[in-house]
Amino acid sequence: MTARPENLNIVPFVSVDNMMKIVLSVGVEPFLHGLADYIEEDFKRWELFDKTPRVASHSREGVIELMPTSDGKEYGFKYVNGHPKNTRDGLQTVTAFGVLATVDSGYPVLLTEMTILTALRTAATSALVGKYLAPKNASCMALIGNGAQSEFQALAFKSLLGVSKLRLFDIDSGATERCARNLAGWGFEITQCSTSEDAVEGADIVTTATADKQNATILTDNMIGAGQHINAVGGDCPGKTELHKDILMRSDIFVEYPPQTRIEGEIQQLAPDHPVIEMWKVITGAVPGRSSAEQITLFDSVGFATEDFSALRFLRDRLESTGHYQELDLLADPDDPRDLFGMIMRSGKADAGKVEK
Ligand SMILES: NC(=O)c1ccc[n+]([C@@H]2O[C@H](COP(=O)([O-])OP(=O)(O)OC[C@H]3O[C@@H](n4cnc5c(N)ncnc54)[C@H](O)[C@@H]3O)[C@@H](O)[C@H]2O)c1
Repeated sequence: MTARPENLNIVPFVSVDNMMKIVLSVGVEPFLHGLADYIEEDFKRWELFDKTPRVASHSREGVIELMPTSDGKEYGFKYVNGHPKNTRDGLQTVTAFGVLATVDSGYPVLLTEMTILTALRTAATSALVGKYLAPKNASCMALIGNGAQSEFQALAFKSLLGVSKLRLFDIDSGATERCARNLAGWGFEITQCSTSEDAVEGADIVTTATADKQNATILTDNMIGAGQHINAVGGDCPGKTELHKDILMRSDIFVEYPPQTRIEGEIQQLAPDHPVIEMWKVITGAVPGRSSAEQITLFDSVGFATEDFSALRFLRDRLESTGHYQELDLLADPDDPRDLFGMIMRSGKADAGKVEK
């Protein structure tokens, strides 16, 4: 028998407060860059992963989802919700937390907030995909939907692709003003636009990150021209899309995991056998990404479990160097592994002894 490690009950826990400290101590752009490297590495190991469309519980108001995956050595999952009506009540549209565990014993090795981490991983994934699909030397991005995800998207595209011009639009001009204010000083030339038509004018990349629980039409066919790359982030649930179908018919469509994207992505509007290209094949070099300057490329992003797994790994690898975590007494650890009941009884007696004293 091998020696039993100490503190088996303890699991590192990253609170929102500590996540903010980690992001600031690593730096937002280095964090996005480093995270994109982990996501890319895991796309290259795609065939190793257990893959399943996420498990979604839909209601009239929104969705609650579980996103599990494993590479055979580690296992991760995320709990995430999507409730577009939430911001009206001062709540966020998306909140999340997640766990990384070792497959060997099944013991969790990390519990963490993932609301901030999701925004970072979504942006890092978008920009990573943009590296393969955006037109050469892309410098201008339209950003439609200026909510919680928006600044992260802007900074990821700056960090990975060198995007320096932003054209912002949101139906709520207050959201655009906040986004522009937060990004002032980060080296962008920012234009606040009054319509989405205006925002896409002259943009090499068009990112849509709106939240609406319906088949919305954020982009119509006439708004998209030859050579543009569309990064469609907000359509990620059955009955919740952002693009007019005609754009899809003119685009080469790139996806994360087809069985999930066909349920949740823009392509739910198309026939179930409409051709799509899997990003892992592009990233491993098996198939080309952008192949001509005129091609319209569309990343039909919905967010896949391997990206959260990469984010959990990235965070776990930063815990020791940053030191920003708490030790959580999460796992029962009786001296005799089978004496779980006895452990409770002995703790009761120990507590009673303390009271008598
Ligand atoms: N693909 C992914 O991996 C992924 C990950 C996270 C979030 N999301 C999705 O991205 C979307 C944005 O998330 P968020 O956290 O930023 O939400 P949010 O509610 O904070 O922001 C959404 C913004 O969209 C704006 N908006 C709504 N309808 C619009 C329209 N017709 N035109 C322009 N703007 C409009 C709203 O005013 C709001 O400012 C959500 O739909 C969310 O579900 C996707």
